Amino acid sequence: MSAGSTLDGVLEAIEAARPIVALRDSYLAYPLINAVHIIGIGLLFGAIVALDLRLLGLRRAAGPAEGCAGLLVPVAIGGLLLAIPAGLLLFATDARAYAASPLFQAKILIIGLAIGNALLLRASARRGTASRHGTAFAAGASILLWLGAIILGRLVGYF
Ligand code: HEM
Repeated sequence: MSAGSTLDGVLEAIEAARPIVALRDSYLAYPLINAVHIIGIGLLFGAIVALDLRLLGLRRAAGPAEGCAGLLVPVAIGGLLLAIPAGLLLFATDARAYAASPLFQAKILIIGLAIGNALLLRASARRGTASRHGTAFAAGASILLWLGAIILGRLVGYF
């Protein structure tokens, strides 16, 4: 059995799992999970953009970026912790089609890059090795990557 057909079998089994069938067939649960996904994205993106703009040098009167991060990073992580499980549930309802969609694959890749970028930025800030230019580049890239993930997420439903 090839790796492709093994993966296909796993995805098919996920789609056929009883809670996932119930979710797919429910008039209320699916849109509510979708709402949780969007609430998570809203919290994540709102907090991340605010922090990235501060890292880019805007609104210095708001105080040092570390102080802003103290509030905004937990909000962003909370958003991610809502968006990811809700996204996985949405994915499970039509796993083979999503897995085969180039737009969905691109979205997941971009989310991985955005999370990796945030982790690297945080690690270099903690070690005190972040240069001003490097930080500004990472903050700009962060806004673009998360925007890309949101736009691709929207497009998946249409193409
Ligand atoms: C955390 C960053 C994420 C962002 C910014 C994001 C963004 C989006 C957006 C904007 C939508 C469209 C919502 C709507 O129009 O109703 C969406 C839908 C969706 N997301 Fe995400 N998403 C994220 C994470 C994930 C993850 C980790 C998964 C699963 C592995 C996932 C799976 C889905 C699925 C299956 C849909 C429904 C697509 C459709 O309309 O058929 N998302 N996402």
